[in-house]
Parts: sequence; structure tokens; C-alpha cells
Amino acid sequence: MFHYKNNKLYCENVPVEKIASAAGTPVYIYSKKQVIGNYLNLNNAFKSISHLICYAMKANSNHAILKTLFSLGAGADITSGGELYRALRAGVPPDKIVFAGVGKTKEEIEYALKTGILMFNVESTEEIELISRISRQIKRKTRIAIRVNPDIDPHTHKHITTSKAENKFGIPYEQAASTAEKIRKDKNLILSGLHCHLGSQIISLSPYIQMAKKLSLLVKQLTARGMRLEYLDIGGGLGIKYHNEKPPTPYELAESILPVLKNLNLKLILENGRYIVGNSGILLTKVIYHKSVKNKKFLIVNSGMTDLIRPAFYDAYHEIVPAELGKSIKTRVDVVGPICESSDYLGRNRLLPWNSTDQLLAVLCAGAYCFSMSSQYNSRPRPPEVMVEGNKWKIIRKRETFKDLEV
Ligand SMILES: Cc1ncc(COP(=O)(O)O)c(C=O)c1O
Repeated sequence: MFHYKNNKLYCENVPVEKIASAAGTPVYIYSKKQVIGNYLNLNNAFKSISHLICYAMKANSNHAILKTLFSLGAGADITSGGELYRALRAGVPPDKIVFAGVGKTKEEIEYALKTGILMFNVESTEEIELISRISRQIKRKTRIAIRVNPDIDPHTHKHITTSKAENKFGIPYEQAASTAEKIRKDKNLILSGLHCHLGSQIISLSPYIQMAKKLSLLVKQLTARGMRLEYLDIGGGLGIKYHNEKPPTPYELAESILPVLKNLNLKLILENGRYIVGNSGILLTKVIYHKSVKNKKFLIVNSGMTDLIRPAFYDAYHEIVPAELGKSIKTRVDVVGPICESSDYLGRNRLLPWNSTDQLLAVLCAGAYCFSMSSQYNSRPRPPEVMVEGNKWKIIRKRETFKDLEV
């Protein structure tokens, strides 16, 4: 949905420079059509099995994005009370919400219980005991799924690997059966399923296949002991193309794991975030200075790690392209921001036009874990977010001002 027409970069049918003139820069721009297309692709790929996509809203929790996805039937994967609040406000039915996270507080558990979410994906025995105590107090049986840590390497960045034995997430695979027995004996709880999330930006099928096999074996063991599960939540993690990765498509993912999972007769839950919104957004920024030092040239732009932290945090690669092609000769540059950290860069060693001042640059694939990880570090108000639909666009979150910096 981001393409050039007459040398100008468009989002759907709107030239991005038009948005920049009206809304200023930096600005996040999302394509509604792309969000919907990605969601439908994923949904279609798994249509041969009863399933629910619980959108991992940590990827992008803007109200307009949530409303778009919930209106298509998506549920929500939440990780905090704040996400629960936002999900409900955007109209998701509570019984389509799953709640994962190693550190759910008592208050968050009470809030989710009162709301009537579908289930808690539990990550420790102490958490199970707390949920049980709260359930007893409010005289309600609570559905829980065990988040299993399968000790599988998803071969992604170590900061977004969540399924190796040394990671803090989930209950070790070897302890899952005894944990299930404990839950079964608890009158306040219902063991409704198993959950596993391998990590994020996964670009090969083999970790998923290993996970499917391990989960399938565990389900069969629990069933043999007389436990009746309803759900198998396989998390999210499907990668996208930022640079030269070749991630599997949702269809390839489905094809590789459904033969193992189908005969379990469980309802499948998927918790994708990045795949749904990652390539649906860009960050548009403006060059404010040019600087040449020994062996290096910098384009200094009016956005940086506070707006988009992935390069600084994960050394992540985001394509950067000019909003207008053919304006001047290209040079090797580092695109850096105004923040007082040497890690504040958006791209290194890129071939970009050098001379034109005020030129607009688009940082691509900025729909997931970009705005949602933004901060006010250096007391910088956050940029606005814009949603494009066909030839219309609207601001879906206003630019912050100094008023937002008062405390
Ligand atoms: C429990 C859980 N589910 C789903 C996701 C979404 O992952 P992705 O955006 O890679 O699909 C995450 C991301 O960290 C997560 O922690």
C-alpha cells in the first residue's frame, strides 16, 4: 500500500507529502487496507480449523487500529491492565481476550476476572495460586491455560526470544503435566488449554514445527489422564520482510503445523501482532541538517530513537526511502536523530539523496513495535499517528505538545 506514483511516495491514494504538510513531521502513517489485508490473509490461511486470532495489541495499540481489527472479528492478546482497558474501550468482546505475562498483578487479575476474559495464560505456580484465591473470593471458576516453555530456539534476536529454557516465560515443558494435575484438583480453576509463544520476528518454519509436535504430545498425555482441553494457543511471532529476510507466509505456516495439530480437536488461538500491522505503517521524518566528518556523512532528521527505538534497541534494519525520487545525487549516509545517545540512529550506511534540505524520508515497516515503544525521553513530545483509507486520511492520535510534558 506504500508505492511511488510520478516519483512521489503514496500511502494508498494519498501522497505522503500532503499528510506531512498538514500534520507536520515526524508522523506515523498507517494504511487501513494493509492492516485489513494482513488480518484476512492470516485468517484465511487457518480457515480449515476452528480458530480465533487474538491480535497482540502490544505491537500497536492505537484505538483506530484496534477498532478496525475487532470489527473484523479479532480478539485481543493482552499483557497488562492498561491493554485490557484499551481493548474493551475499542469494543472487543471480553470472551475473546487472552491475558499472558509473567508479572500480572493482583489488581490486574481482579480487573480481568471482573471483566470476564476468555482465559489467563499462566506463567508460574504462584500466579496460579493467586488466581485461584481471587476466584474463590469472588465465587467464580476461572479458565486458565498453561503457558509452556518448550525450550526451543526460534532463531531470532535474543531480546525477542521467549521460548528457551533460560527465558523468564512460561512453565518448563517437563513441569507442565504436573502443573496441569494441580490445576485439575483446584475447585476454583478450569484447565482450558495450553499456550506457547516462541518469540517474535521468526523467519523459519522449523521452530513452529517443533512446537506443534511438543504441544501435540503434551495434549495427548493430558487427554490420556482424563483432562478435557478446549484451546491450543500457539502465540504469534511470524516474521515480516524488513530487509532481505524471506519469512514464511501464513499459508506455509498453516500447512506446516496443521497436519500435526488438526486431529487434537482443539480450538486454535493465534496471537499475531507484527505480521498484522508491521508493514502497514511508515514513520515520515524530515532532514534538518547535513554533516560530514572524517569518512562519514550524517543526515540528521527530526525523529529518532524516542519515536522508533528498534534500531537502537535491537540493531533492527528498517528500509529508508525518500518521499520524492530523483531529487538529487545519492550518497552513503547514516540517518540519525537529535537524541543525546550514540545509539540514536534510524539507519546506517544507506544510499540516500544528500543535498536537498527539508527532504522527507520514510522509514518503512514501522507499524509494529514502533509507536507502541515510543517515549518522551529528552522531553520530546510523541509524534501523531495518521490512518489512510483510500484517498482519505485522518489523525488517529494527536501530536503531543509541551502540555503533555508538564509532570
Ligand atoms: C505472549 C505473546 N503473544 C504474542 C506476541 C506477538 O508476537 P508477534 O508480534 O511477533 O506476532 C507476543 C510478543 O511479544 C507475546 O509476548
